[in-house]
Amino acid sequence: MIIITGVTGGIGKYLFNAFKNSGENVLGTYHQNIPTEKGFENCHALDITNAHQIEEFIKHHKKSFINTTLINCAGITHSAFAHKSRIEDWNHVINVNLNGTYYMIRGVLPTMREQNFGRIINLSSIVAQTGVMGTSAYAASKAGINGMIKSIALENAQKGITINNINLGYFNVGMIETVTSDMQEKIKSKIAYHEFGEPQNIFNTIQYIRDTPYLTGSCIDLNGGLV
Ligand SMILES: NC(=O)c1ccc[n+]([C@@H]2O[C@H](COP(=O)([O-])OP(=O)(O)OC[C@H]3O[C@@H](n4cnc5c(N)ncnc54)[C@H](OP(=O)(O)O)[C@@H]3O)[C@@H](O)[C@H]2O)c1
Repeated sequence: MIIITGVTGGIGKYLFNAFKNSGENVLGTYHQNIPTEKGFENCHALDITNAHQIEEFIKHHKKSFINTTLINCAGITHSAFAHKSRIEDWNHVINVNLNGTYYMIRGVLPTMREQNFGRIINLSSIVAQTGVMGTSAYAASKAGINGMIKSIALENAQKGITINNINLGYFNVGMIETVTSDMQEKIKSKIAYHEFGEPQNIFNTIQYIRDTPYLTGSCIDLNGGLV
């Protein structure tokens, strides 16, 4: 079973379709935008900031959790200089990206530990490693995930569970659509490939992580040689 949060987003939708097409049993979740595409009928509304909702979701689906991979794809961004950011906006970004990711991990771990197997993969960001103006909350939330996985990896390695992050650069689906075309050109000039990434690269990296039990507590940079 593969659980993917955020399947209404650019990357989540791609991954949901790609894993389904490769014959996997996939359980997708979204927040507010109900997906209307064919194949998404059995996806579930789930607010990852609501730990109680997550517990109910896990209880309901627990029986189908076999050889489970959790892909934490749901995330939000908010653009504001730190001195102007509203406290509510800052908290919301941390709540979705860091707390929500943790709540999902906390939800699946007991079953994974019972089964002595699990793969947890979080989509993090290069922004946690490099400064980008207007992204302090987003960067803090992703840096938080990068730190968090180190402890969770230690706690669960003996149970056959790995946890890793992919630090994404810029991809040609999803959040990138909120960036102005001027800024997009500036970003591309810093990428060795001079192009945004294709989501197939994310799928391939996830498969590599799933197939590599000795890889845990790691962050893989996937950014086309962004400097
Ligand atoms: N695209 C990129 O170039 C890029 C680069 C670096 C990192 N990333 C990371 O990759 C992940 C996917 O990015 P994306 O570009 O596909 O984002 P996106 O298109 O903006 O999609 C975000 C997804 O998160 C879901 N979501 C938002 N708030 C939620 C909540 N409270 N509970 C549950 N789900 C919630 C949304 O659901 P609804 O539609 O239902 O609201 C949507 O499915 C994110 O974690 C992002 O930080 C992306």
